[in-house]
Amino acid sequence: MPARTRQTPDYPFEIRRSAIQGRGAFATRRIRPGQRIIEYTGERITPEEGDRRYEEDGMGRHHTFLFTVDEETCVDGKKGGNESRYINHSCDPNCEAVIEDGRIWIYAKRSIQPGAELAYDYQYERTPQHTKEDEEFYRCLCGTAKCRGTILAPAKKTRAPRKASPKKASAKKTNSGGAKKAAKASKAAKATKATKAAKRSRA
Ligand SMILES: C[S@@+](CC[C@H](N)C(=O)[O-])C[C@H]1O[C@@H](n2cnc3c(N)ncnc32)[C@H](O)[C@@H]1O
Ligand SMILES: [Zn+2]
Repeated sequence: MPARTRQTPDYPFEIRRSAIQGRGAFATRRIRPGQRIIEYTGERITPEEGDRRYEEDGMGRHHTFLFTVDEETCVDGKKGGNESRYINHSCDPNCEAVIEDGRIWIYAKRSIQPGAELAYDYQYERTPQHTKEDEEFYRCLCGTAKCRGTILAPAKKTRAPRKASPKKASAKKTNSGGAKKAAKASKAAKATKATKAAKRSRA
């Protein structure tokens, strides 16, 4: 009888140590711009359950595997998730996350050569309550020339009203829960990653 083999998906990347943080995902072959690379999978939970699992007060440095789908749902990549959970953040990313019908997909933003580390912009939600201490808690180690020093989204600039433009779809990634209750409002803001995303052509 032939030996049983476990089917592993043929991802165009491998997981190994990263200069950014911990482990990361590195291209093993060329990835085309717009190519759908992998789905961000894991257990679907409420933001409140995400808060419970990743209590920030006990963390010296922030580290989670949560991704926000919407106000009611987060995906915890640590439970039943695939290799997508190792894709790190960069302030000058070669990938982006897109939510399509409640599912999270990672796409290439540009051509990625073998050996390059895959990364997307987590853009943790920033609020006016954020302090220097928060910036440090979410310190970014991407090392790119465009590094903003923190994984928090860039501070919004106030601009004169402009002509309305068509809305893009957006995806949110979380570090410990998305929408927290009023008592934890400022922490909730710290907790949410958001990646700008537009619907893209499929691989
Ligand atoms: C989904 S994990 C990514 C995989 C992670 N490197 C590991 O080995 O577990 C997300 C966590 O990785 C870390 N991380 C990812 N990108 C980072 C960056 N640019 N700077 C600092 N830490 C980063 C943060 O601790 C974040 O909460
Ligand atoms: Zn950075």
